Amino acid sequence: MNKSIEKAGNLHKPVMPSEVLDLLASEKGGIFVDSTIGMGGHAKAILLSADNTEVIGIDQDAAALEIAKENLKEFNKRLTFIHSNFADIKQVVDKSGISGVDGIIADLGVSSYQLDSERRGFSFRFDAPLDMRMNPDGDIETAAEILERLSEEEIANIIFQYGEERFSRRIARRIVKRREMGDPVKTTFELAELVKRSVKRTKQDRIHPATRTFQALRIAINGELEILEEFIKDSIDLLKKDGRLVIISFHSLEDRIVKRTMQKLAGKCFCPPKFPKCVCGMSRDVKLLTKKPVVASENEQFENPRARSAKLRACQKLK
Ligand SMILES: C[S@@+](CC[C@H](N)C(=O)[O-])C[C@H]1O[C@@H](n2cnc3c(N)ncnc32)[C@H](O)[C@@H]1O
Ligand SMILES: [Zn+2]
Repeated sequence: MNKSIEKAGNLHKPVMPSEVLDLLASEKGGIFVDSTIGMGGHAKAILLSADNTEVIGIDQDAAALEIAKENLKEFNKRLTFIHSNFADIKQVVDKSGISGVDGIIADLGVSSYQLDSERRGFSFRFDAPLDMRMNPDGDIETAAEILERLSEEEIANIIFQYGEERFSRRIARRIVKRREMGDPVKTTFELAELVKRSVKRTKQDRIHPATRTFQALRIAINGELEILEEFIKDSIDLLKKDGRLVIISFHSLEDRIVKRTMQKLAGKCFCPPKFPKCVCGMSRDVKLLTKKPVVASENEQFENPRARSAKLRACQKLK
């Protein structure tokens, strides 16, 4: 294993670090945006891969940025931290006065730090207010607030669409019933318990019954899927010619958007066959560097459970 990756691994285990560095071609140096800097694992690997790399690190979670700053303090001359949603990547990079970047990475979803934070409400392992906002400083609703506001049907749709949960209707019914009785679901333990009572478990189920519902609410309140396509397009605009975009996703809904958007930017038309002309917005701005998603090696999957569901896709700007 590359020495730089081994060192970076001591602070947080970034997913598929060698694959990320290869696909970003960071050893040539240049300016890279880590749009989900988290604990700084990937950023550190990029900074160690060549002395002439610079990283702009974005995260919407101010607490994560503080940790990344601490973890990466030895590199502070080559690093800029920005507290922002990566949906605003264009404005963020424009403001830095940079005209183009050599590579962009996004390692989507929540970090192990967020999942392990007892008070943030991401995990049913800890009893906490049902919050789940990745950016608690922003003005979005908490998970408890949307469960108080939305209709039963809207709640069921979120749990079904974003959690692919078969028992979404039953879960939504119980959530609303509690609310009607003046006792709305307010904590992680209350929701986990309610879900457990609502779903039928089979012997094949290896995950906790509340996993899908928690994932669904997190995706919904943080607007995780809505911003992805625009983010990918904006990232391609920001890249210099030959610059690379690498995205790691953790569930099929995310991966589907990443795959489709990259394919569209690589010239694949998604219009129905009978359409006289293309209206899907297809262009020929990139070439795909990964025809199929790259997955972590067996060894990495064994050592880092988070890597098991990871899918990596990358593309390179042509013009
Ligand atoms: C999986 S972690 C990244 C871990 C990082 N690659 C590392 O090696 O330490 C994802 C991070 O992205 C952040 N994040 C998720 N969605 C975001 C968004 N739309 N804008 C900015 N940051 C986001 C989360 O707050 C979290 O800290
Ligand atoms: Zn088309």
